[in-house]
Amino acid sequence: MLIVNILSDLRTAIRAWRSAGLSIALVPTMGNLHAGHLKLVTEAKKKADRVVVSIFVNPTQFGVGEDFESYPRTVYEDQQQLIAAGAHLLFQPAVSEIYAPDAKTIVSVTGLSEKYCGAFRSGHFDGVATVVCKLFNMIQPDVGLFGLKDFQQLTVIRAMVRDLNMPIEIIGVETVREVSGLAMSSRNGYLSVEEKMIAAKLYQSLCVAREAILARRQSYPEIERQAVLFLRDSGFQPDYFSVCSSRDLKQAGEDDVGLVLLAAARLGKTRLIDNIWLRLCSANENATSVDRNR
Ligand code: PAJ
Repeated sequence: MLIVNILSDLRTAIRAWRSAGLSIALVPTMGNLHAGHLKLVTEAKKKADRVVVSIFVNPTQFGVGEDFESYPRTVYEDQQQLIAAGAHLLFQPAVSEIYAPDAKTIVSVTGLSEKYCGAFRSGHFDGVATVVCKLFNMIQPDVGLFGLKDFQQLTVIRAMVRDLNMPIEIIGVETVREVSGLAMSSRNGYLSVEEKMIAAKLYQSLCVAREAILARRQSYPEIERQAVLFLRDSGFQPDYFSVCSSRDLKQAGEDDVGLVLLAAARLGKTRLIDNIWLRLCSANENATSVDRNR
């Protein structure tokens, strides 16, 4: 695996692959890799001849008082895992390689970025969209792979690619979970042993809500209200729990068939997010779901 820190070296490697007619997939990450990230690499290998992974803890997507400084940086372990997973190139730039001190351009995907996580993390998705746009420009991949775990992020990236006519196929990859159901996340390392047990209840709250939706027992606002109560009783401070249309992330109506249940909650100092995607059959059929997270 090639390890590259500088943009000119990256471009040299990409140019050589392009001249040889090879296709390229990009998996952008912030490192501290776990099985969820590695699943993206495995899927990327099925989609393209060469897989580039970027590790860059992107300062512009962290708000004031968030965990940019303390975000886990595990360079050696990450490199070993990527070699074992069969990635072809690791791009691991310094902040100065990505952002000029007088940079003036921000990519903002309006309408999608302000709600849900964006309402609690002001400017977060502008930082994400800007850095992903820059990585796409630097690497010019055929395919970009992102986790369904960050469903709003994936929706923002898809909108950016469409609106800016980027010739890149965006692929969403299923969430990898612990046996307890807890979605794997670099931030799970912040949890104490006791908190980790409670943390699994976030996924449980989503499963319970999904069952209620499939049984068509309660209205969506009532399902959201009960989920928030359940999370509070379990020891979380919920930021939101929303039943949305998976197409545009608007609040779901009774006619929507593609749904995503989005949840974010704080547990002690750790902020956790998770979701479940499901598709309802038409009203007259027996309701079933396809949960791409399981
Ligand atoms: P990071 O949190 O490191 O995640 C990198 C990619 O891994 C994202 O696409 C994320 O959705 C995916 N991922 C994380 N946990 C996962 C899990 N349990 N199962 C499957 N996929 C998972 O997301 C970011 O970094 C950044 O915002 C980034 C896109 C790199 C821009 O800076």
